Amino acid sequence: MEEIGDYLFFLDLYNWGEPLLHKQLPEMIAFANQKNIHVTISTNLSVQLSDDYLSRLVKSGLDRMTVSLDGASQETYERYRRGGNFSLVVQNMQKIQKIKRELGLNSPKIYIQFLVFKHNEHEIDNIKQSYRDLGADSYYFGTPVMTDVAESEKFDIQPSTFKEYDIFHPDNPLNRRTKEASSRPCSWLYSTLVIDSSGNLSPCCAVASESDSFAALSVGDNVMEAWNNKKFRDARTFTGSRDSKYISVGDDYKRVPNIEAALVKGPGELICKYCPQPWMQRIAFETVEQICAHLSDMVLNNKSITMKLKAVFYYFLMGVPLNIRMIRKFLTALNSRFRPIIYTETREKSL
Ligand SMILES: C[S@@+](CC[C@H](N)C(=O)[O-])C[C@H]1O[C@@H](n2cnc3c(N)ncnc32)[C@H](O)[C@@H]1O
Ligand code: SF4
Repeated sequence: MEEIGDYLFFLDLYNWGEPLLHKQLPEMIAFANQKNIHVTISTNLSVQLSDDYLSRLVKSGLDRMTVSLDGASQETYERYRRGGNFSLVVQNMQKIQKIKRELGLNSPKIYIQFLVFKHNEHEIDNIKQSYRDLGADSYYFGTPVMTDVAESEKFDIQPSTFKEYDIFHPDNPLNRRTKEASSRPCSWLYSTLVIDSSGNLSPCCAVASESDSFAALSVGDNVMEAWNNKKFRDARTFTGSRDSKYISVGDDYKRVPNIEAALVKGPGELICKYCPQPWMQRIAFETVEQICAHLSDMVLNNKSITMKLKAVFYYFLMGVPLNIRMIRKFLTALNSRFRPIIYTETREKSL
């Protein structure tokens, strides 16, 4: 953080694990907050947390909390979230809102993230109607990534019957190889870095195995040097080259998402050659949109005129990026201050 903190806009303090199991998480967030970094966590929130911990979390300056709640009742929720406690999640969200109110704070904004499967799709409307009572500020419906149909049947989890949430449906954008339509190198390799708790540096959040990481950092190592090591440079060259358009697991990608491709990777080969998430290669666009949404939030919600002017200044400094989604977000925020914004549908259409 000391080396690169001044250059970071966003910090997501989660990937595969559960961030709230870390006892010093609030202090880590507060440290990032001092450097004006927008901090997000995604949590299952089905964790027993003391009032003191929750209060430290709210006071830490955490900007956004995504709560993985894939259901509107215990019965449907626990089909995917095995061992999860629906009431505990709701209780925790409500406690956080109470602490926010008592402290007069707007953040963290709580988003319910509802991954839509066949067994919970009938509860979509329920969440749309009850999210505020449950303790959330907004919600998001997403397509679950699944490896193959046989695997999902083994766990008695079926994809949604709505094609926009069924990753196996040929029309679902997550089932398409967006790289085929793009001549740009993968933007993760330029805009983002992922560090796990052991110090492994990966090119993106989809790298599941430590053996696919591009560097192993120890305390005191230079992050920028590692981020430009041979593997990163090779991956940038590769994903920007013509060859990258032809990587595939044969015709299978029409049937299953490319997440399986990582399994056929040979030893020593770069994960990017078998990219598990080609649909995510344009992450920089999303990052710019997120920054714009954050800046519009600063203009609307910040009480300080200096901060409002600063946000406008940053926006001009970014080259006045304009796109329809950003305008829509800004208008929605203006209209209602904080109304549900359903990203999935717009993102999928724009792809
Ligand atoms: C693996 S979780 C880890 C963080 C935290 N434990 C949680 O549950 O939110 C990281 C993110 O992946 C999402 N996720 C879980 N299963 C998924 C799936 N099959 N497809 C897409 N996202 C998934 C979660 O909702 C969460 O936002
Ligand atoms: S694995 Fe795919 S998304 Fe990840 S950095 Fe490589 S090309 Fe980009």
